Amino acid sequence: AARARPAAPLGTPVGCAVQASLLDRDAGYRRAILRDCDLVVTEDALKWDRLRPTRGAFDFAEGDAIVRFARDGGLAVRGHALVFHGQVPPWLDTLRSRAEAEAELRKHIATVVGHYRGAITSWDVVNEFTDDAPERGTGLRNTLWRRLIGDGYIEMSLRAAAQADPAAQLLLSDYFLEFEGEHYDSRRAVMLRTVQGLVARGVPLHGVGMQGHLYSDRVVDRAAVARFVAEVRALGLVVVVTELDVIDQTFPADLRQRDELVAQQAFRLLDAIAEGGGADAVLTWGLRDRDSWTRWHKPRPDGLPTRSLPLDDDLKPKPLHEVMQHF
Ligand code: XIL
Repeated sequence: AARARPAAPLGTPVGCAVQASLLDRDAGYRRAILRDCDLVVTEDALKWDRLRPTRGAFDFAEGDAIVRFARDGGLAVRGHALVFHGQVPPWLDTLRSRAEAEAELRKHIATVVGHYRGAITSWDVVNEFTDDAPERGTGLRNTLWRRLIGDGYIEMSLRAAAQADPAAQLLLSDYFLEFEGEHYDSRRAVMLRTVQGLVARGVPLHGVGMQGHLYSDRVVDRAAVARFVAEVRALGLVVVVTELDVIDQTFPADLRQRDELVAQQAFRLLDAIAEGGGADAVLTWGLRDRDSWTRWHKPRPDGLPTRSLPLDDDLKPKPLHEVMQHF
């Protein structure tokens, strides 16, 4: 099917998640990123388990390598993620009291944001905070931080990040904000409610990250997404697409068909966002298919390799690459 396209690209900055290990050993990967991206985001390098395998020390080696690469190439860097329930080291389970949890979280944010002050200009401060049963209670995921600190851990984290780098762009980011259906309506409602409350209290928050992990068997709700983006923007916040890719489990095996359907899914999302006023940046979660988390976390039932990203395994651009340049 033909895709309607803007007459001229809107000029939204584009980027991708990067892995330090690949930057280190793969010149083709480095060249592709420098060619295609205005910014990059740290895929795993700054998660707690990588940064703090033990409680006492911070290992900034991978993050520093990404920042160095970006600086040399003139790319901006986003940091992912200061507060996240996933990929945490086992020692976090030993935190017991509210005071201890708060002290540890404050120390983490001050140290990490402080280390990258001026170098990482945008942060996912809290990642994936909405509950998988979003219609219940406050709709907040019952993470370790919420259990020990209470709902206020979000505000606390944003304030701590702003204190460590007053110039940084601070986002709350989440998944399942894109699709048709009641469940997704509830998730959008939790996100809106949360950010409205924070803005009303004067908490330093600059935008909402829509992760943009799209699925071959879920339909992007154009009208709801456009409305959501417009509502976020009306609060004076930006929208960033933080982790775009297409989980192509149920798309046909045929490569040309599959690549076209993947591109159409992404187009549908980005077009709806444009209608709502546009995004501040759009980042895919990786650049080359073979590096995608979908290869091992979201495999196809037929065993064929997933094709979730703008470039194929040989770094050849696919239709999704073209879509990325059109917004
Ligand atoms: C994924 C990484 O891409 C993988 O390398 C890792 O093994 C698991 O996490 N949502 C997020 C990201 O916010 O942190 C996840 O990243 C993908 C889903």
